[in-house]
Amino acid sequence: MDDRKQNRKATQAAQGLGWIDEATKAIIPPVYLTTTYIRDPDNQYRTGYSYGRPHNPTTEHPEALLAALEGGAACLTFASGMAAATAVFLALKPGDHVVAPNIMYWGLRKWLQSTAAAWGLTVEFVDGASSDALAAAMRPGRTKLVWIETPANPTWPVTDIAEAAAIAHRAGALLAIDSTVATPVLTRPIEFGADIVMHSATKYLNGHSDVVAGALVAARTDEFWERIVAVRSGNGAILGPFEAWLLLRGMRTLYLRVERACRSAAAVAAHFADHPRVAGVLYPGLPGHPGHAIAARQMSGGFGGMLSIRVAGGEAAAIAAAARVGLWKRATSLGGVESLIEHRASIEGAGTPAPPDLLRLSVGIEDPADLIDDLDQALASGN
Ligand SMILES: Cc1ncc(COP(=O)(O)O)c(C=O)c1O
Repeated sequence: MDDRKQNRKATQAAQGLGWIDEATKAIIPPVYLTTTYIRDPDNQYRTGYSYGRPHNPTTEHPEALLAALEGGAACLTFASGMAAATAVFLALKPGDHVVAPNIMYWGLRKWLQSTAAAWGLTVEFVDGASSDALAAAMRPGRTKLVWIETPANPTWPVTDIAEAAAIAHRAGALLAIDSTVATPVLTRPIEFGADIVMHSATKYLNGHSDVVAGALVAARTDEFWERIVAVRSGNGAILGPFEAWLLLRGMRTLYLRVERACRSAAAVAAHFADHPRVAGVLYPGLPGHPGHAIAARQMSGGFGGMLSIRVAGGEAAAIAAAARVGLWKRATSLGGVESLIEHRASIEGAGTPAPPDLLRLSVGIEDPADLIDDLDQALASGN
């Protein structure tokens, strides 16, 4: 995308699409806390609103903004990223075959292995960074969905979105992508052929670690999208209006926050790449990362604020280093203004693909020199 077009999206985000409350001329939209709406005298609902579970005017604000930023036809917010992601799978039919990556957000992987499998989906896990592996897993006529995540938790392999879309479409399947880490600032998957884009809006979109939310953006409003709309309404997986209002407020600074996090993450990655107490730095922005060339093609303006380091000395040394940080917060999650550090295998548990020596870093918007100094001392004081 050219710079002018990117800047225009930053403007749309900063102004929350420029809404003005027509009743008062307020430049910040109100929060509609209502659960229900008055019928017209002739028994119609002409405003389009009837009840709080299918829709709410406040949730429509971040939805319209995210659809614009992603270049999609429609967006729905959800009660969480998991509610958004699982709505895609629940819009399929029992018996459908799904291809998903080995390396992905662990909570969703677990849900696919347990609930989705029990519900009747056949989920095949493959190396999502390999187009050959994705192509080999397709069962034309049976595979209905390819799910990818790029860059993917917690080792940050990169999937070529355009190739994955072509592979899925050739087999008659849809491509859905968890784009939480890239955000629309860095990658707009619909431009590469994705059909559905998913976000844990808990992360960068909201950005302040104070809202749990999810979102789906559709390339088209087709029959599959209508099934997703019905799943959200039927399951009641909606975002509350106050959370939606906070989400819109957070999204106004999305571009500033992501640009800063990318620059700082790149500085952190470069600093620790040759560090004597670090066995490896996993970051798509490093030229030595196996997915760097693809990431450079499909990410514009940076490689994201997420990276992982492998601590020399193994699991015990990694856990000890995470315990010695001062500025970094030792907590799970990502994409907030404050930097987080986490021993990933501890939270994912048995079966995790996270190496035991891996610390996942979510780089926030603090001064990068402070972050580097703090991690340096945490790693060094293990003597
Ligand atoms: C990449 C990714 N996708 C999805 C999720 C799930 O989102 P939520 O916690 O909002 O349900 C997470 C949460 O950590 C995530 O990191």
